[in-house]
Amino acid sequence: MSVFHDFDVLVIGSGAAGLSLGLKVAGDAKVAILSKNRLSEGSTSWAQGGIAAVLDNRDTTTSHIEDTMVAGAGLCHKDKVIHVVENGRDAIDWLVEQGVAFTKEPHVGKDIFVDGDYHLTREGGHSFRRVVHATDATGQEVQLSLETQAKNHPNISLFENHMTVDLISDQNPDPDKRRCVGAYVFDTDKGRMDVFRAKFTVLATGGASRVYLYTSNPDGSTGDGIAMAWRLGCRVANMEFNQFHPTCLYHPETRTFLLTEALRGEGAYLRLPGGERFMENFDKRLELAPRDIVARAIDHEMKRLGIDCVYLDISHKDESFIREHFPTIYKQCLKLGYDLTKQPIPVVPAAHYTCGGVMTDKSGRTDVANLYAIGEVAHTGLHGANRMASNSLLECLVYAKTAAEEILSLIKNTDISVDIKPWDESRVMDSDEDVVISHNWNELRHFMWDYVGIVRTTRRLERAARRVDMLAGEIREYYSHFRVSPDLLELRNLVVVADLIIRSALLRTESRGLHYMLDYPDTDPALAGRDTILKPPRLPTAK
Ligand code: FAD
Ligand code: SIN
Repeated sequence: MSVFHDFDVLVIGSGAAGLSLGLKVAGDAKVAILSKNRLSEGSTSWAQGGIAAVLDNRDTTTSHIEDTMVAGAGLCHKDKVIHVVENGRDAIDWLVEQGVAFTKEPHVGKDIFVDGDYHLTREGGHSFRRVVHATDATGQEVQLSLETQAKNHPNISLFENHMTVDLISDQNPDPDKRRCVGAYVFDTDKGRMDVFRAKFTVLATGGASRVYLYTSNPDGSTGDGIAMAWRLGCRVANMEFNQFHPTCLYHPETRTFLLTEALRGEGAYLRLPGGERFMENFDKRLELAPRDIVARAIDHEMKRLGIDCVYLDISHKDESFIREHFPTIYKQCLKLGYDLTKQPIPVVPAAHYTCGGVMTDKSGRTDVANLYAIGEVAHTGLHGANRMASNSLLECLVYAKTAAEEILSLIKNTDISVDIKPWDESRVMDSDEDVVISHNWNELRHFMWDYVGIVRTTRRLERAARRVDMLAGEIREYYSHFRVSPDLLELRNLVVVADLIIRSALLRTESRGLHYMLDYPDTDPALAGRDTILKPPRLPTAK
């Protein structure tokens, strides 16, 4: 039997975006924050490099805005860039109030700046040192501080192992007037489908990089929020822009992990197996060119030379500096037999960030009334065709604030007294063929990597489109006959996301930012400022 829960605000996701929004509205609202697994299992905890913000008085917001726009290759929405950048300092101050301890300045030399005593590092695309961080584990520090605040807040209820399956609309016969009134949520501990009813629902479910075989992301980055919003009737934008991080550890026997761009910011080189540096053949900014350029350069060299990886080398820097600034990476590498202070580390690119997502306005509002989307799940217009390093956590924080303000301004006059039907399980049975899920999951991630990866062609994309169609049909059938499980739910969402990525990629007949097409190698000036927008059919959402 379903249990019904009533809240003012339902926040789906407990990373930087969801926790920040929850904390910002909780003074005046009863809030539920859901996580499909443990609270800290999203990408936020894994963030390394830091958060970009103009904190040094020699830096300027104009420069941060310009750098973001350059990296975004003609698709950033300037008003959104200005909004985010101008709120940068406030966002950092707020985090400090929540207990976040950023690395302070005492230890490094003369080119490091002091403002509020923070050490500021540098990453690709930034023309200034403006990345505030907590050594190389910034995300963990942010996540744990926000979690502590949320756990101690009397108006916030936290629900771990609660996986949202679908959003619920009020079924208004006019699709343009439908409102979101909550969500069906699978309590994975109890195996029970509950109903969460709320005046406002906020998607903060993170990205979708698990649609690729190799990724820097945690297991839960399966694009659930994008798929759920799509099924409810929201438009999505720019799904072709998948960011591949250039430097993830290459180790055939271990799961990959990220080697932060801040290593290159602090002077690390990229080298071929023979020791030669190669970035000068691709971009005058060398190792600190924007990510799309560096990832493509590595991909090019790997294919040209038939090698499995390239190498990231910071061993020429002072040993104590490396250990002090990159303690987590240093220890992780050492466990695998690599000493960051003494030798180059094997690296490859891996899927890292979903630049596209659910279309939102300047307040984080989606196409469906009372539904907001913030953080990596959203397309705000900030990142354009390529996100600049460390702008993501900043976007999470700024849009959490903006959406919270709007929700609070509307909450008193919002009523959602609608009847919601409990989940109907009368026509499904237990699965006897789980192999369908694991097989399709592997197949999907393989062909996405091979055909829809760093370098694309129309033929590869069409091949992928045929395969995704077939998988989508099989999964639809499976879903309608069998009881849900977390793996099935994630696969169902990944197939939607894969389809959106492929369709968007086929529509963009040019190369721009992260989207590189061998058969359209040039950027088409006529497509500057044109987002790829997909509009869903208006279908009922519940099973
Ligand atoms: P997440 O932190 O990913 O949280 C998503 C939440 O949604 C989780 O709680 C998850 O359980 C929940 N969820 C998902 N689906 C469901 C569902 N169906 N039902 C219920 N709950 C659900 N960005 C930077 O700016 N600086 C960095 O230094 C940086 N480093 C990074 C390093 C790594 C290794 C990675 C992977 C990313 C990095 N990024 C960085 C990107 C940044 O971390 C993410 O974009 C950001 O943390 C996303 O935050 P979020 O709150 O939107 O989502
Ligand atoms: C990194 O530390 O290299 C990741 C930064 C980011 O993705 O913004």
